[in-house]
Amino acid sequence: MKIIMLGAPGAGKGTQAKMIADKYGVPHISTGDIFRANIKNGTELGMEAKKYMDQGLLVPDELTVRILLDRVAQDDCKNGYVLDGFPRTIPQAEVLDSELTKLGDHIDYAINVDVPDENIVKRMSGRRACLTCGATYHIEHVPPKKEGICDVCGSELVLRDDDKPETVKNRLNVYHEQTQPLIDFYTEKGVLKTVDGTVPMEEVFAAITAILG
Ligand code: AP5
Ligand code: ZN
Repeated sequence: MKIIMLGAPGAGKGTQAKMIADKYGVPHISTGDIFRANIKNGTELGMEAKKYMDQGLLVPDELTVRILLDRVAQDDCKNGYVLDGFPRTIPQAEVLDSELTKLGDHIDYAINVDVPDENIVKRMSGRRACLTCGATYHIEHVPPKKEGICDVCGSELVLRDDDKPETVKNRLNVYHEQTQPLIDFYTEKGVLKTVDGTVPMEEVFAAITAILG
């Protein structure tokens, strides 16, 4: 099963993608996590991506597409995957589509997690992230067992550089301009499913599993 998660920054794509990956036994692939891991490790790719991410801008398509296609070509993706944060532009979606078509394959579902802009800024300021293992928490909704420490790997939790309110506003603008058109793109392909992302995460997940079966 090949699934794409769509939605504004902070809509809960990553939260739901991890739950889907666990339940259906497919890898969770987040381009944002790949970039953040590279930044943490000080790689050349990380340094390049950071220039854009810190301003709330998208990393150029060429770089992002290359990384994503390398990742989905790995063995663990044979039976499917859940993509979180990719595609984010029409050109990215077109490349993915044509690569899958070459393999006689296609995306099964594009799940749009719908959350209005007003809720987003509040969510982001409460998010805490583990840059070591990618786990995500929220100071009110999903607190870690021990304040400031990742339950999974024991690393320190941080407010992401791009979760500061000024940057979140830029990310929302970029989302509306460049990513929202993908809703029409996947509607036309007949695979778009929208779920309400404002309800508690277990309820969002129940709506998603009702779609995926
Ligand atoms: P990326 O990491 O993909 O960020 P994003 O899309 O902005 O998404 P987020 O990770 O911020 O949010 P999310 O929807 O996953 O929400 P989460 O589950 O964490 O990308 C970062 C940057 O990398 C981009 O700005 C860009 O520069 C670059 N990039 C990445 N991919 C790219 C691409 N394809 N092309 C170009 N550039 C790219 O939830 C948010 C918070 O809310 C958490 O604290 C969570 O605990 C909480 N929460 C979740 N669900 C609920 C709920 N139902 N109720 C209450 N709280 C909830
Ligand atoms: Zn961790």
